[in-house]
Amino acid sequence: MEKDNYRMAFAEAAAAAFRELYPEAFARVGDAEVFSTETVYSSLEKPKDPRMGRFALPVFRFVRLLEEKPPVIAARLADKAGEVLRAGNRSDIAEVTGTGGFVNVRINAGSLARQTITTILEQGHAYGSSEVGHDKTVLVEYSSPNIAKPFGVGHLRTTVIGNSLRRIFKKLGYTSIGINYPGDWGTQFGKMIVACKRWGSEETFRGDAISNLLDLYVRFHKEVETAPELDDEAREAFRRLEDGEPEATALWQRLKDISLAEFDRIYSLMGVTFDSVYGESFLNDKMEAVIDRLEAAGLTRVSEGALVVDLKDKNLPPALLRKADGATLYITRDLAGAFYRWEKYRFHESVYVVGSAQSDHFKQMLLVLHMLEETEKVPQEDRMADKIKHIDFGWVRFGQKTMSTRRGNIIYLEDVINKAVSLIKEIILEKNPDLGNIDRVAHQVGVGAVLFSQMSVRRQKDVQFVWDEVLNFEGETGPYLQYTHARLCSLGRKYGKDVVPGIDFELLNGDEERRIIEYLADFPSTIVDAARNYEPNIIVQYLASLAASFNSFYQRRDKNGRIEKILADDESLAAARMALVTAVRSVISEGLLLLGMEAPEEM
Ligand code: ARG
Repeated sequence: MEKDNYRMAFAEAAAAAFRELYPEAFARVGDAEVFSTETVYSSLEKPKDPRMGRFALPVFRFVRLLEEKPPVIAARLADKAGEVLRAGNRSDIAEVTGTGGFVNVRINAGSLARQTITTILEQGHAYGSSEVGHDKTVLVEYSSPNIAKPFGVGHLRTTVIGNSLRRIFKKLGYTSIGINYPGDWGTQFGKMIVACKRWGSEETFRGDAISNLLDLYVRFHKEVETAPELDDEAREAFRRLEDGEPEATALWQRLKDISLAEFDRIYSLMGVTFDSVYGESFLNDKMEAVIDRLEAAGLTRVSEGALVVDLKDKNLPPALLRKADGATLYITRDLAGAFYRWEKYRFHESVYVVGSAQSDHFKQMLLVLHMLEETEKVPQEDRMADKIKHIDFGWVRFGQKTMSTRRGNIIYLEDVINKAVSLIKEIILEKNPDLGNIDRVAHQVGVGAVLFSQMSVRRQKDVQFVWDEVLNFEGETGPYLQYTHARLCSLGRKYGKDVVPGIDFELLNGDEERRIIEYLADFPSTIVDAARNYEPNIIVQYLASLAASFNSFYQRRDKNGRIEKILADDESLAAARMALVTAVRSVISEGLLLLGMEAPEEM
């Protein structure tokens, strides 16, 4: 990442100050790891109260070594670092003060405005990009719906969060690989085969094939209550599938083709993409090797004919690798998949964006991998278990049940999207009937609203999906952010000129402008923060604050109570404000992009 110039200058000054103030301690720690520019830089924090300054250095960790109280260290360090900065002509760093256990640093507002806005205007969409991920591969698995079933809202949140994370990592320079791992294997396909053979026909595959298949599946579960032999039949059918019997395989392939085509349609509606798509079945021939390794490592045990790995001492049920009838399981495929991904990508990190309902599954999987690498004494650099993470998230609750009437109990994602788009279209027709391209904009905003709703709270919290809230043009919603962006675009059109060099940044000295500029300057670190926490909601919160701060600027009143025009009559004032407007627009559209949303120019 391009280092923040102010932080870097301060870090250098602080490191020099340490050396001067504490020569003995400095000598004692040898190469002075704790005092290096790098360490100071990376320990800089953002004060909770922005009035304290733009960033702060906590000094608590130096207490033991320096044998002084935090306020003393902070005050001495602040004085000395301030001196060093003044000597270096860094008057843009306005103030360095020690308060409590922190050294707080204030930046000259005009300088921050100039540096931030010119950087954004120069870099455009690249602003906030970085190189921290250079040479590192991050795998992000998301979506992973189950074939022969409808794409329901149950797979919405993983799709949205994962899609955003993949973009966030890419922005930071990682080789970011989006993986879709559809469920295309397991005993349920035995049931599907039996149901298709008994009650299905060519008709099943015409029209709304997925719904027809769902009906068959539901029927199987109903009939099996009175005809338990159906279960044996299904097991037998799955057996045939596992043996590669042509008829069963052909039917399964057909189910798969239909489903994947359906999924693709939905992904393209949502603007969601992947770099690699393979289903569970892809691992069929890769499981034996993992099972062999686990057996050779002495980690398995046979229990009632089944092969398991005990996890009793970890308070988890045993990981079931192979049933008595020889069938492998979901976790067996995930174990094999972990090795497959490791061998193929040698990832820096591999994350699985899957709901918290599967937490135990991922705990089991990770424990088994750990135990295996530990027992095999795999050299540290070849270990992967530590690099794998389950990125969990809470439930989505659909308040109104109106969605579920037509097609049974499952809420189809496609229905939700279509409904959002048509409701947004109605709103736009009312608000802005002359808008060209209404259908396209309604699509961008309707889809955006649905995507946004999934990231509107921290991922581990549940989401309440309430139509009126999701589609609202005001408040913390997708449409609100997109609307703010469109408003910024319209200002640009009204201005009608390019923003050119020679801006007087001192003119942006109002409280509102300052707040906006500070937000703009925070964009790069916000992205890093979002990646570190695997949390698109951090970008959401950021954009909401930026938009709110812009809107209060936009609606600011002069002393006569009139709304101040951004396009002031004074030309240099108008030019300075339009530079700000352009920068905000650029950051909002890039931020939306990181969330997987589009940014229409008019709406
Ligand atoms: N297909 C599974 C489901 O819908 C999700 C798969 C999650 N990914 C994984 N590697 N286990 O529940």
